[in-house]
Amino acid sequence: MHNNLRDSLDEKERAFIDQVIAERSSRPGALLGILQAVQNHNPRNYLPMETLHYVAAKTRVPPSQVYSVATFYALFNLQPQGEHTVSICRGTACHTRGSRELLESLVLELGLGQRDDGDSGGADKATLTTADGVFTVRTVACFGQCALAPVVEINHSICGHVNEHTLQRQLKELARESD
Ligand code: FES
Repeated sequence: MHNNLRDSLDEKERAFIDQVIAERSSRPGALLGILQAVQNHNPRNYLPMETLHYVAAKTRVPPSQVYSVATFYALFNLQPQGEHTVSICRGTACHTRGSRELLESLVLELGLGQRDDGDSGGADKATLTTADGVFTVRTVACFGQCALAPVVEINHSICGHVNEHTLQRQLKELARESD
């Protein structure tokens, strides 16, 4: 099975991973850095299963260990990510200032509540990507910016005191950029 998985990676991708491993394998905590570099290189910013198996085979780290690292750290994605990422804080301060409603309106607006791929788990537990690959919506425990609650991060930029109106406006601008 592992051979089949390795075969499904194209030659360029294998060469890139080989090079990353050669450069980093002697460093402490090498696996994290390797997975990060490989994910950054993926056009959809994620780690496909065949990539994890290939990294495991090449680094001689058991596949189960590579998989647990990839699932443990929030920075790793196992599903293709959207062109734009909107992260909604679900910490207490943001919750009391309406982050749940923000999340629900976003899920509704982008049609994410309709998905039945087992990934949605309701509006409160979200790493969801629109079918057209434009938006990924995720939840975060706390951005450490509670004074700005409710906080939303849009493409790595923190926005404070967000309301549904400003969020919708920003979404529309991003959707226009992607047209
Ligand atoms: S609870 Fe949202 S930033 Fe801390």
